[in-house]
Order: sequence, then structure tokens, then C-alpha cells
Amino acid sequence: MTATTGIERASAGPRAAAYGQRAAVVFPDARLTAADTRPVPLVMARGAGDRIHDVDDREYLDFHLSSGALVAGHAHPEVQAALRQQVEAGGNFGALNVAAIELAERIVAAVPSIECVKLVVSGTEATLHAIRMARAYTGRDLIVRFEGAYHGHLDMVSLSNKLASLGPADRTRIPDTHPIPDCPGIPQAIQDLCLVAPFNDAATLKRIMAEHGSRVACVIMEPFQRFIAPQPGFLQAVREITTEHGALLVFDEIVTGFRFGLGGAQEHYGVRPDLTTLGKIIGAGYPNGAIGGPAAIMKALFGKSARAPVYLAGTFAGQAVAAAGGAKTLELLARPGAYEHLFALGERARAGLREALARRGIPGRVFGIGPLFHLHFDDADVANARDALGEDKALRKRVWDGLLAHGVHITGARGFVSLQHSTATVDALVERFDAVLHNL
Ligand SMILES: Cc1ncc(COP(=O)(O)O)c(C=O)c1O
Repeated sequence: MTATTGIERASAGPRAAAYGQRAAVVFPDARLTAADTRPVPLVMARGAGDRIHDVDDREYLDFHLSSGALVAGHAHPEVQAALRQQVEAGGNFGALNVAAIELAERIVAAVPSIECVKLVVSGTEATLHAIRMARAYTGRDLIVRFEGAYHGHLDMVSLSNKLASLGPADRTRIPDTHPIPDCPGIPQAIQDLCLVAPFNDAATLKRIMAEHGSRVACVIMEPFQRFIAPQPGFLQAVREITTEHGALLVFDEIVTGFRFGLGGAQEHYGVRPDLTTLGKIIGAGYPNGAIGGPAAIMKALFGKSARAPVYLAGTFAGQAVAAAGGAKTLELLARPGAYEHLFALGERARAGLREALARRGIPGRVFGIGPLFHLHFDDADVANARDALGEDKALRKRVWDGLLAHGVHITGARGFVSLQHSTATVDALVERFDAVLHNL
């Protein structure tokens, strides 16, 4: 079978259509996750390097990379070898294993604030455990989070992320400190344990903490929130405010970890949190998650002398295949030139996409840092999630669907490049993006 090119991918191929019908029977929404919003069934068969092929052997340049998990790209030969070796040796032992120890050592060596880690199975598990750990450590129940941040998909964190009930009119309105649940099914009692602040607004956080600080266990945040960069001094201010009130600062580095350099956003911005959550990259495409922090905190919560150790379990925690893939990926990232490659390609993508927007006269911004790029169809500055409410969402959807039809796999509005992406692939993205804008 020959790989196809061109916009014939606007409709499903015969095999994808057939699988799509089967999926619609067994999956109530005919898809795997909420992020899967493609207009036609997209059923993938294999991936290699910077591209994937669907069941009809249609080729897609992949800038989604399993939601950023595959920083080494698809089926990287060295990662594959590490995974294969671990599969053959037995994948899960329910006991300490060499791969898990090596992964933990690499995390500790790389991330400035981490001296010990606990392994879990996903990013969501990591953030939920971090919150439990902060509560146990401080003896307090409330958490503070920033509006628009994503910390996973379960109750305690599925709050004030999607903001689906808000529109452009809410742009200039300061958020209420009460969270907006992301969906039905999240009890009011859970919502009442969460306070919400706007990102990049230290004054409001200060006010919230002045009122509630003595009951706040932690402030949890993405240090680089989705696509919004912290303004100079903001992370430092959050660090000071949390310290002042005896609350822990949790950096959710599930996206930013190992992405802006081996030390993640905390090294990039020079701010040390108390706890850090990790995921994605440390599993090399297999489920993995971690919570790390200084030994003083981690041993107080889990050490042999801890008075009441926090309960953390999981049949698959420290699973050796994911750990072996993660450890090998961190080894690849530690090699000379790895981040130079990722940063150069990311910059090339951002510059090319910006030029295309300008050439076609489409209002928009391209945000991002290092290997991340994010397209935003609005010309306004964005310092927090409310500023982004004015985006032309219909236009964004048309562009994403158009890119898919042109053989570019990307979801949401955020793209990632990998160690196996090349300048040619990035230039192809920009050309296809330009073609999509031209056809609008
Ligand atoms: C910043 C952040 N935190 C938490 C999560 C949840 O991780 P997982 O999807 O592995 O549960 C994600 C996932 O995209 C994320 O981007």
C-alpha cells in the first residue's frame, strides 16, 4: 500500500470508516478521550519517527506526540530496544526493580527541587497524590489553583479548567474564588475545598491567602500554564506567598518537565517548589507518573520514621516497562545537542506559523517555548485564561480540521516537536498551515 498525501484525508478511508462504526458500538461517544475531537474517525496503526500511519496507510506528520509524551518521537530505536528488553525480562514485578530505580535516579539528578520520588501510573494520579501529601504534611484541607490550568481529569482537579460556561463577556471579570466544575458529577463538598485565582496575578493570590491561608494545604500550578508564560516575578511571588502562609507550593510539571531543559520549568525560571508532579515523558508513551520533592518532606510523609505514612499504592506503580522507556528517554535528552535540536525546531515552527498568519492576514498569536508551540486565533495579549476567552473558536476548529485533512496530526491548539522531528517536517507543517489559511 502506498502512503497517500493531499486533502483526501478530509473523509475517512474505508478501513477507518469500518473501525469507526465498530468503535461507535462499543464506545458510547465513539472515541477514546475528550481530546479526540476529530471530524472523521482516525484509527491509527503505527508510528515511526515524526509521523504516524492510520489503518488505511495514510500518513500524518505528528505534532501531537501522544499529548507530548513522545519527546523522543515514535518508536525511537534506542527507546524501542530498552522497552523490548524489559518486556522480555518480564514487565511488572510488584517489587523494586532496576528500571524504576534508574528512572528515579535520573529524575533526582535532573530536577533541582527533587531528592526523592514516588512513582504512580498517570499524571492525574500524581497531582491527586501531591494534593493528599500536602494535606497530610500541613494538616489543612483547602487547595488553591489557577483558573484555566489543567491538572488531570478526576474530581479534586477537574475544576475551573475548561471554563465552558464562560464567554468573551467574562474576559474582564475577575474569577470568583469558587471553582467552576468541568463537568457534572463533581460533588459540591469537593468543590468547596478548592479556591481559584487568576494566573499572573500575585495581588489576588495574596488577598486570597490573607483570608484563607491558614487553611490552605497547597497552591498547585502549572509554572507555564498551558500556553501562557509566567510574567517576570510571578512565580517568585507565588513562592513567597506560599512560604509566608505555611502552604506547600506544587509545580505540576507534567508537560514542562524535561521539556525546557532537563530541570524543567523550575530550573528555567529559577523557582523551587515543595512538590513536583511528573508524567508523560517519564513513560515514553506508556503510563507513568511521579511526585517528587526534597527528602525532608518526602521522608516525613513516607519514610520509615514517618508517624503516619501517607498511603500510596497501585498495582502498576513503578511498572518496569514504562520506567525503562522513561529512563532511556531521559538518557537521550541528557546527550549533547538534544535541547538545542528541540529548541531550534520549536522556534522554527513558531516563526513560520507567525509568518503564515501575517501573510494571510489572519488575527492570531503563536505562543510557546522550546519544543512547544500554541496557536491562538486572537490578537489580544494573554496573561491568564480569561484573556483567552475572546479567541475565535470556530476558526480554530476549521484550521485544525484543515490541518488534519492535509495530513497533520495535532489536537487542541498545542503542538510538540520531538528528537526525531526535522526541519523538513517543521517546514512541511508551516506550508500546510499556510495552505489551510489560504483555503479558509
Ligand atoms: C499539566 C498536566 N497535568 C496533569 C495532566 C494529567 O496527566 P494524565 O493525562 O497522564 O492523567 C496533564 C495531561 O495532559 C497535564 O498536561
